[in-house]
Amino acid sequence: MLRIGFVGWRGMVGSVLMGRMREEQDFKGFEPIFFTTSNVGGKGPDVGVDIPPLKDAFDVDLLSSMDIIVTCQGGDYTKELYPEVRKHGWNGYWIDSASALRMKDDSIIVLDPVNRAVIDSGLSSGIKTYVGGNCTVSLMLMALSGLFACGHIEWISSMTYQAASGAGAKHMKELIAQMAVLGDASRTLLDDPASTAIAIDEIVTRELRSNTFPTENFTVPLAGSLIAWIDSPMESGQTREEWKGSVETNKILQTKKPIPVDGVCVRVGAMRCHSQSLTIKLDKDVALDEVSEMIEEGNQWVKLVPNRKESTLQSLTPAMVNGTLTIPVGRLRKMLMGPEYVTAFTVGDQLLWGAAEPIRRILNIIIEHLS
Ligand code: HSE
Repeated sequence: MLRIGFVGWRGMVGSVLMGRMREEQDFKGFEPIFFTTSNVGGKGPDVGVDIPPLKDAFDVDLLSSMDIIVTCQGGDYTKELYPEVRKHGWNGYWIDSASALRMKDDSIIVLDPVNRAVIDSGLSSGIKTYVGGNCTVSLMLMALSGLFACGHIEWISSMTYQAASGAGAKHMKELIAQMAVLGDASRTLLDDPASTAIAIDEIVTRELRSNTFPTENFTVPLAGSLIAWIDSPMESGQTREEWKGSVETNKILQTKKPIPVDGVCVRVGAMRCHSQSLTIKLDKDVALDEVSEMIEEGNQWVKLVPNRKESTLQSLTPAMVNGTLTIPVGRLRKMLMGPEYVTAFTVGDQLLWGAAEPIRRILNIIIEHLS
């Protein structure tokens, strides 16, 4: 029976992964072994089957006895342990949600509804390292997989509205703490029907600029504001998040001629759904009906939202998509720039298709490949 080790199952991506695996009854037909960096001998998660006490996530010998290792522990762990187990002669499958190994020549970025052929050819040629993509990139590709498959995309500009969850669990809590401070400070005026919005705004602005506003994680206010910078700077003037758009898209699709993807990545006060406004340059004038059809046929999770106010407010929001696998694509229309320019807006759950789901699915694909 396959021995599969799980590291980082308690964190945010890990716990969403565990939840999805339980929901899909994935814990059968293999021996799951749970590792920990802090609680050796403790009790593992409830996955519906008996599991041994937690093992040491730094025990290279034990890790090397796994057929597959799935880690959501983060990049620092990967950077430390991955070379160690490989040096130890371990030739098993390493599945990782962190970005550390994404751009290595001998790794594949996984998003099987989009690049199943790339994954299958990697498996048959003996590739052993499979990594989940950047959430924004995966969600954009899930939204446009049908259009990419038709080969008409020349370039994409993607303007993002990224949720707090992409920054981490503490950041999600801080966003709500910031909202609570603003709500508490304006409570008296909110309760007074005669109060003015300008008076409330003065209180809110004072709070946003005060030294006591909770900004330990984001370093600046996000509630009532936004942050037009995600991750570290690159020489190009892009942020690393913006840089990933092009390099990861082209690696996932293994394009022969790279398709440029570029834009501005912005953090907004959503909890766990990233939204993106896309400008798509086609290589020719394709009728909007055909574009819609291609997008809709891309995969079973895409849901085309009519370009109307009611449907947009109803279905194309983080509030509606949160916690679901649906990838709505709406606001689809030709742009004034010319008939080859199409705009679209899409929303996706950053923890599901943006992180845990591609990992859950590649695990099943590898298990199937090995059986
Ligand atoms: N880097 C992304 C973000 C999340 O900050 O929203 C991880 O892919």
